[in-house]
Amino acid sequence: MIPGMPGDSQVYLNGEFTRADQAKISVLDRGFIFGDGIYDVVPVYDGKALRMTEHLDRLDRSLKALSIGQPMSRAEWENLVGELIRRSATPSCLVYLQVTRGVYKRDHAFPKEPITPTVFGMATAFAQPTAAQREQGIKVISITDERWLHCEIKSISLLGNVLARQKAVEAGVDEVAQFRDDFLTEGSSCNLWIVSGGKLMVPPKDNLILEGIRYSLLGELADKVGVPFEARRIARDEVESADEILASSATKGVLPVTSFDGKPVGNGKPGPVYAKLRAAYDDLIASL
Ligand code: PDD
Repeated sequence: MIPGMPGDSQVYLNGEFTRADQAKISVLDRGFIFGDGIYDVVPVYDGKALRMTEHLDRLDRSLKALSIGQPMSRAEWENLVGELIRRSATPSCLVYLQVTRGVYKRDHAFPKEPITPTVFGMATAFAQPTAAQREQGIKVISITDERWLHCEIKSISLLGNVLARQKAVEAGVDEVAQFRDDFLTEGSSCNLWIVSGGKLMVPPKDNLILEGIRYSLLGELADKVGVPFEARRIARDEVESADEILASSATKGVLPVTSFDGKPVGNGKPGPVYAKLRAAYDDLIASL
């Protein structure tokens, strides 16, 4: 048994499906030794993946960024996602995909001879945001962004994100808002947005944030519902005085942040821009 996972969970590892508690990787896997690998998380609603192509495109970009060879064709990735969904205990799930550089004697430099990447996949239960989170919002505290300078790569080296999330847990809140040089970057595992004067704003796509699949998606939805949208650097005082703050990720979808550093955001209730984007996001899922 793996603590926290149903006993009969099946996972995919290097070409085979096995029970999660029977799947084994080498102790010399570079993912285990160095965090040398990448991952992606695809949200699946009632058996249908949302924006699978975009998630697989990002997986390609992450592999290229780390010069890890592409282990499978696009058709094989799509089949794998389909098979993980088919074997999932619940029709709504999160498909997790991970590729590491593979197994080799411990040496920081990339192996000099070709090695086979390790490919891992699983579908886990999708704990969707609760009605309270959707209707009353989540609480966020600000922290200094202490991560490295390649946050655009969806790397499995997530210690900075792990420590950031733990700060939220210890403060009794849901997420953190990370700031680098007093400019907003992102949450521990979500993108963050502000609304000011009716305009939706998000930090620019650069090496300081992960470009979430919902980053472009919410931009598209904002366009559709007539909310002006801009990607630009956002200073701390703009976050503190924002009318609304939003969080987005595969797991959160889009959620309102109604408490920031213990103070209410706007009037302390989810705002009108959130309401429009939430409705558009829900419509999109309903249309899958
Ligand atoms: N995290 N920024 C970070 C640091 C993230 O880890 C994530 C997603 C996002 C949002 O990306 P997307 O919209 O594609 O989910 C932004 C996933 C859900 C995770 O690590 O579990």
